[in-house]
Amino acid sequence: MSPMPAKAPLTALRADLVTFTGDPFLTDPATCLAYTPDAIVVMGAGKIVDTGPAHEVLRRLPPDVTLRHYPDAIISAGFIDTHIHYPQTEMIGAFGEQLLEWLTTYTFVAEQHFAEAAHAERVAGVFLRELLRSGTTTAAVYCTVHPASVDAFFAESARFNTRMIAGKVLMDRHAPAALLDTPELAWSQSTALIERWHQRGRQLYCITPRFAATSSEAQLEVCGALRHATPSAYVQTHLCENINEIEWVQALFPERASYLEVYAHAGLVGPRSIYGHGVHLSEDDLCTCHRMGAALAHCPTSNLFLGSGLFRLFEAKDPRRPVRVGLGTDVGAGTSFSQLRTMGEAYKVAQLNQTRLNAIQAFYLATRGGAQALYLEDTIGTVAPGFEADLVLLDRKATPLLAFRSDYCKDIVEQLFVLMTLGDDRAIQATYVAGECVYERDAPDEGFRYPGSGATAVAPAT
Ligand code: GUN
Ligand code: ZN
Repeated sequence: MSPMPAKAPLTALRADLVTFTGDPFLTDPATCLAYTPDAIVVMGAGKIVDTGPAHEVLRRLPPDVTLRHYPDAIISAGFIDTHIHYPQTEMIGAFGEQLLEWLTTYTFVAEQHFAEAAHAERVAGVFLRELLRSGTTTAAVYCTVHPASVDAFFAESARFNTRMIAGKVLMDRHAPAALLDTPELAWSQSTALIERWHQRGRQLYCITPRFAATSSEAQLEVCGALRHATPSAYVQTHLCENINEIEWVQALFPERASYLEVYAHAGLVGPRSIYGHGVHLSEDDLCTCHRMGAALAHCPTSNLFLGSGLFRLFEAKDPRRPVRVGLGTDVGAGTSFSQLRTMGEAYKVAQLNQTRLNAIQAFYLATRGGAQALYLEDTIGTVAPGFEADLVLLDRKATPLLAFRSDYCKDIVEQLFVLMTLGDDRAIQATYVAGECVYERDAPDEGFRYPGSGATAVAPAT
């Protein structure tokens, strides 16, 4: 007889709890928010095993559970960033240019540093800590053209046990020679990386042609073949971000009816396709995204910083043909790793479009909506039994101003709105990944821990 498997130790968190039961762009937002004051969330073996009001859960809690109480905090699902570039961490906040000049002046320079594996390892360490410090537990991440940049990223993500989606950037034209590959290398290197990383632990691979202007038709076709060969892999690229970029792509592909059609022709539009931006999409393109199940990453801080334009969120989410939408920081064109800051800027972009993004909709986008965009809505993004235990603790008293303002909040919706307006990484008290605390803001050291080790996770030397 085989021995009884040892029971996974349980950990429980006590604080107020917010999560979502539906899409607040499609139905009355008030019915989509599940708010439990003074709740307990119980976690074991990486999953959520129980949630409910503390007075109820306490009655059924086994005696050996480790219970952590966060009296000023709100528990939420960990944030999901649907579009970010880790190699651009070193040039976030680069002055003066719009997209195409910004790419050549700053981005392609920084990305060449990743020819050196040690540099990639160092930046991956810094980058993942910034995400966790901001409460982001899943992201769709662009690496560089160098396969070692992907290895460095996934290796560090695996150490934290975060669920990450990432891939090697593919470019075979219109970039410095040192950053170019070929259709053949795109195939062989992506295939090897898929074998090495896709669905290894919590890691997921993403086929990553940078955008239509830097991939030849032949390379885009290879991307379609890669997707066909591994349907569970993701595809990410950029789409309709900037007027000059759109004109350039139309000139490069005159036979295609639209920018999105370039990707559609290569078989790159469908479930698990994530397009960054989509600021200037036509109604026809939005219909195509809806019909094909492709997702858009709304990146407000980036669109404002590069002067790209105002994403029409409520048009994208039109209930008659809703498109899957998540929030993206798009660091380094984006100016913050924080999803709270990103929600706050999404609100301002919505205002400039004469629309109103309420807090329930914004937090939905950063959690369950992001998960839906990534076809992971049954796995992450919701705080309920059976979901993976990726959680964030939001501190309503993180700064003197937040503490003062929070006292005047009449309900949880106002509190969430104040957090997205005033909050940033300082409001992240702790981040849990698969049931383990990987970041604790007030710890005496930097606060990072690799799960299982109990040891401080010091970033590689700078
Ligand atoms: N379009 C093509 N590459 C990029 C990039 O790195 N950042 C942004 N924001 N847009 C792009
Ligand atoms: Zn981007």
